[in-house]
Amino acid sequence: MLNLDEAERERAGQLLTAFFDDYERSIPHRAVVPEVDREALSALLTPFPDEGIGVEGLFHEINETILPNSTTVAHPRFLAYVLGPPNGIGPYAEAIAATINQNCNFWQLSPAASVVERAVVTWLSGLFGYGEQAGGILTEGGSIATLNALTVALHARRPRFRDRGLHKADKPLVVYTSAEAHRCVDKAAAILGIGLDNVRRIATDDQWRMRVDVLEKEIRADREAGREPFCVVATPGTVTSGSIDPVADIADVCERQDLWLHIDGAYGGLFVLSERKREEFRACSRADSIAVDPHKLLFAPLSAGCLLVRDRAGLTDAYAFSSSYLTVAEDPLMIDYMDYGPQLSRGFTALKIWSALRTFGVAAFRDAVDHMLDLAQYMADLIGAEGQLELMAPVSLTAVCFRIKHVEPAAALATLAEEGTALLGPARLGGRDGMRACITNYRTTRDDIEQIVARLTDMAGQAPGD
Ligand SMILES: Cc1ncc(COP(=O)(O)O)c(C=O)c1O
Repeated sequence: MLNLDEAERERAGQLLTAFFDDYERSIPHRAVVPEVDREALSALLTPFPDEGIGVEGLFHEINETILPNSTTVAHPRFLAYVLGPPNGIGPYAEAIAATINQNCNFWQLSPAASVVERAVVTWLSGLFGYGEQAGGILTEGGSIATLNALTVALHARRPRFRDRGLHKADKPLVVYTSAEAHRCVDKAAAILGIGLDNVRRIATDDQWRMRVDVLEKEIRADREAGREPFCVVATPGTVTSGSIDPVADIADVCERQDLWLHIDGAYGGLFVLSERKREEFRACSRADSIAVDPHKLLFAPLSAGCLLVRDRAGLTDAYAFSSSYLTVAEDPLMIDYMDYGPQLSRGFTALKIWSALRTFGVAAFRDAVDHMLDLAQYMADLIGAEGQLELMAPVSLTAVCFRIKHVEPAAALATLAEEGTALLGPARLGGRDGMRACITNYRTTRDDIEQIVARLTDMAGQAPGD
């Protein structure tokens, strides 16, 4: 039998509740990076038993082997990459989604889930000023949202793409993005057959933002060479420094040149929630598509990305295929998400986002975003006040890139992680290596930032000097 009997259910419930509670309480005291027990992990590779170990045995293994060898992403001084802790209700919503196991492909299999996803997507698209025609779909993350966006852009550019593929006789299509853009743009171009040779990495200005004059020059050069410019990916919130590309100027170029404008908002997009940043994101409403990542700034447990498109017809043009084995009666309240993306079977990702927005309310997320913006500025101020520490880029959002003079960044990062002070990430800007704290963590406090900067100052003090 693959279900649990009543006694097992009761025990599993107790163990799960205890796990959630103990974990929450333990977060500040856990090692940010675990000391990996290779022997215990190797033992996980042994064949699965014929006779199961039962509920009690499973929780024992999770507590003894999985947990101690897991990174404490929720630790308040985990500030590496663009990754944060799950919000408090996320794990519960995930458990419920697994229990009802809705298949979010066509609405008869998941009526409430279809409407919940629609509610989440509509809210997200409203944040960017998208109108009635807009649509979107939740994805596995920002990279997939951008891949799906470029797929839609490709179908829009080449209406017969579905039947003909990328035909050799057509001019090569060219995608433009900044030198600071995330590799997901390259990946999408490679997967779609556009080819990395046809991705132009546009130079950035002294604040790491795409240079619009260079963009226009490159577009002209490609047209003259017989290629076909078709899409620009702008990044309001680049992955390293959080720089914000000049979206309004890029949108003007796209309009003049008839190019698809995609916004990679995986990191930065949801800063639109902050009153202070809203103006900088206003021009995103002019984009054809936007990728955002609820698993970053909405703290949904991994994974949850979202693709938004200004005109949802583009999604169905790219993705809707009718199949005799999927009988679907149309209903204006419902959306069949299989027509909006490449997947057929899909989980109920929307539940964890919807649950958090219902439980905490939107203001709590606005406050969390503002809190992180404040902390990043605070960290930048502390670093700026230390002669031996050097900021590598202005702090536009929550990424703080810096160097310790005369200290090798990789060594400093390793020391901070090993001694348990913090996990920060590497930063490479303009060919120079440095370190990066990306505050994507609602648990981080000013005290955490002070501890980190104090330790960086110590390290600077021990460095050889000029
Ligand atoms: C600007 C940007 N784009 C795309 C991504 C990739 O998003 P995901 O990891 O959700 O695929 C990231 C991740 O940090 C990012 O910062």
